Amino acid sequence: MLKLTPRLEMAAGMVRRGNTVVDIGTDHAYLPAYLVLNRICPNAIACDVKEGPLLNAAKTVAKYALGDKIELRLSDGLKAIKKGEAQDIVMCGMGGNLIEDILTPAEWLNDKKYRLIIQPQSHSEDVRRFLDINGFEILNETVCKDSGKLYFALCAEYDGHKPDKNETQYFFGRLPECENEFATNLIENILKRLKLKANSIKGYSDKKNEYEKLYAVISQAEDFVK
Ligand SMILES: C[S@@+](CC[C@H](N)C(=O)[O-])C[C@H]1O[C@@H](n2cnc3c(N)ncnc32)[C@H](O)[C@@H]1O
Repeated sequence: MLKLTPRLEMAAGMVRRGNTVVDIGTDHAYLPAYLVLNRICPNAIACDVKEGPLLNAAKTVAKYALGDKIELRLSDGLKAIKKGEAQDIVMCGMGGNLIEDILTPAEWLNDKKYRLIIQPQSHSEDVRRFLDINGFEILNETVCKDSGKLYFALCAEYDGHKPDKNETQYFFGRLPECENEFATNLIENILKRLKLKANSIKGYSDKKNEYEKLYAVISQAEDFVK
């Protein structure tokens, strides 16, 4: 049976049972194959913007004889996905800014029936800010360790509310609510990164505003690790 890495297993755990899933940037299609093999999803669409990764995906689909359940599709983001074709939309292992670029034109996602499952490799604060500004509620966040590195995933659904969160909430999201030692470690890592950044711009008059914003985030976030 196909075994996922902890990072992909964490994201797979946020997919709702019984739904069609689309995996954007699928590469080997491990995640959709796992979901279908374990009968979590009846079928899946595995997409990638490049032919090479889709060839990798085709090998996985052939190995597990999933050709009638997993469709492989060349797609730049969600451009080749029609409204309603899938209910759960997965984006793993891509940078936060690319994820934003993929979500921006897909206004059909502004509907409570869709769930976004996102595991950004970078710029998580930009993903959370994007979701907030565009009316998506983050339902859950979770963290895992995979090959010595910390990864986090979130799931979100559209509810139309735009609660205007602050920068601390964008940097840390719901991580402080996770009762998980990896979440605490991730909070510490983010805090360390912000402190390094703040120290590197401290004292520069043209960076005064940026420094003050960072300082405010750091001061609030210190409470998370007390
Ligand atoms: C680092 S791999 C991640 C593979 C898998 N999702 C995972 O998390 O293990 C990123 C994949 O995203 C694909 N990709 C990059 N930009 C894309 C886009 N705009 N639309 C669809 N796929 C994209 C790449 O071709 C690559 O296969």
